[in-house]
Amino acid sequence: MRDLDHRVVGGYVVQGPAEASRNLTAIAHAVGGEERARAYGHGAGVLWLTGLSGSGKSTLAMALERQLFDRGYGVYVLDGDNVRGGLCRDLGFSAADRAENIRRVAETARLFADAGFVVISAFISPSREDRQRAREIVGPGFHEIHVKAGLEVCEARDPKGLYAKARAGEIASFTGISAPYEEPQAPDLTVDTAALSIPQGLALLTRYVEDRFGREAALGATG
Ligand code: ADX
Repeated sequence: MRDLDHRVVGGYVVQGPAEASRNLTAIAHAVGGEERARAYGHGAGVLWLTGLSGSGKSTLAMALERQLFDRGYGVYVLDGDNVRGGLCRDLGFSAADRAENIRRVAETARLFADAGFVVISAFISPSREDRQRAREIVGPGFHEIHVKAGLEVCEARDPKGLYAKARAGEIASFTGISAPYEEPQAPDLTVDTAALSIPQGLALLTRYVEDRFGREAALGATG
């Protein structure tokens, strides 16, 4: 800083986040992923559910969590209810806030997966680019699952009465009404909840998980 005569009167160093993280060193864990898989009897990863509000993401996520837990899985659901009230409570629904919401969820999911869990995330995550970033954060254990139901179907269900409010102009930037939803182009799995019942959708998801994260898939025949 200089005064009016251009004399230096002060100064400070701006340390941005990138610079701050330069002084961090990764410490290797003493327990590896395969060791965890053997101890827990299944593989780890992230099932990233995306779809419109009212498409059935949370319903399926909770049912799947129950089902997998009953089958001995370490499993946990991340969704708006447990994330937007705490970790992301400073965020709203602008495109930038949603991007940050998704980034934080992806980082959290990555940690849970690292710890050996099967993570089920249930967020609208309307932006293709944000979902791609989530995939990059999580790495190869990321599975994009489109919980698919058209806008008309979701709006007719309107479980939280939010579509009616959005139509009445009481909620700004509501996905599907006044904010975009970009469908996945090549999801790893699609669960069409307009055509399937909840038990049918659940069966599809359970099979998907068993095939990819089950004991045999994770550890081979000798595991
Ligand atoms: S996301 O776009 O950032 O992925 P997220 O899944 O966390 O959204 O939250 C969506 C939930 O927040 C909806 O199911 C709905 O209950 C509520 N919500 C409140 N305002 C909006 C809005 N403008 N658009 C979409 N959902 C909203």
